[in-house]
Amino acid sequence: MSHIAVIGAGLIGRSWASVFARGGYEVVLFDANPEALTEARALVRETLADLVDNGLIDETVDTVLARVSVSDSLEQTLDGAIHVQENVPERVEAKREIFERLTELADPETVLASSTSGITASSFTEHLAHRERCLVAHPVNPPALIPLVEIVPAPWTDAAVVERTRALMSQAGQTPINLNAEIPGFAVNRLQGALLNEALALVEDGYISVEDVDRVVKDGLGPRWFFMGPIETIDLNAPGGVRDYMQRLGPMYREIAESQTVRGYSDDLLDQLESERQKILPVAERDERMAWRDRYLTELAALKRQRSR
Ligand SMILES: NC(=O)c1ccc[n+]([C@@H]2O[C@H](COP(=O)([O-])OP(=O)(O)OC[C@H]3O[C@@H](n4cnc5c(N)ncnc54)[C@H](O)[C@@H]3O)[C@@H](O)[C@H]2O)c1
Repeated sequence: MSHIAVIGAGLIGRSWASVFARGGYEVVLFDANPEALTEARALVRETLADLVDNGLIDETVDTVLARVSVSDSLEQTLDGAIHVQENVPERVEAKREIFERLTELADPETVLASSTSGITASSFTEHLAHRERCLVAHPVNPPALIPLVEIVPAPWTDAAVVERTRALMSQAGQTPINLNAEIPGFAVNRLQGALLNEALALVEDGYISVEDVDRVVKDGLGPRWFFMGPIETIDLNAPGGVRDYMQRLGPMYREIAESQTVRGYSDDLLDQLESERQKILPVAERDERMAWRDRYLTELAALKRQRSR
């Protein structure tokens, strides 16, 4: 029977299992570590229960969970798979190794997609047979609550494979976007990195505190970004649209860009970040705060779903 093979049952692999099962697909989860596999189904159940409780799934937990199985055999996991979603640790050697195994064992028609956060597919698929079915499908954590998937082909990825992956992600209820060509960090982490680098530079140079730079995003920029992107934001922020906006503020943005320099992340900066964060959130309270973050994300996902109906 055709199914989706999820390779690596850590944080992201487990979340993908919930996404694909919620979307109606049969899922087989594989992990090299038997302990991760033992825990996986119970953790997927917890995620599904949260989604059901918040109106993000219309079926029962048991119905959706029945589509998820685990296997300790990579051969068995891949047998009959229409799509493989790889989620092993973020190291190029680890990606290279697992893609070699996937190529040996999977049917040549099976799409091999990596969840890598920023490593280009060409760095670990160049030497493979049937490399035209390999690509990146990068989720944002947790994919069960945040729908974006970046589809990033290597130069040799077949256009039909890109199209099939996009269709599968849409069918699963995600929001796929395409990069026309690969670039390290893709779009998500390049944009996130640009903001993070500037936030750290402002803190390092003493212009703003850690607490206030976070406030700039959560109380200033973030509320709009929940439902529109940076280009739509500027289009709506000047009477004449994007051109008008850039005529008014373009010179300022250019001056800022020209003043930006590449930074290292010095120990002094990390000490400062850690110490300011400790005052705001002691380590002992981090788990509770992470649960709070996930509840908040769930409520926002439910709101977005309700508004898109
Ligand atoms: N955590 C995030 O926020 C996030 C977001 C988007 C993408 N990603 C990407 O997803 C991938 C997985 O990240 P994660 O956070 O789930 O990591 P993780 O450490 O939680 O899970 C990795 C899993 O892979 C398993 N594993 C290791 N080698 C394996 C092998 N050869 N075969 C099968 N299983 C193997 C490990 O046992 C572990 O369970 C990475 O490429 C990461 O960059 C992570």
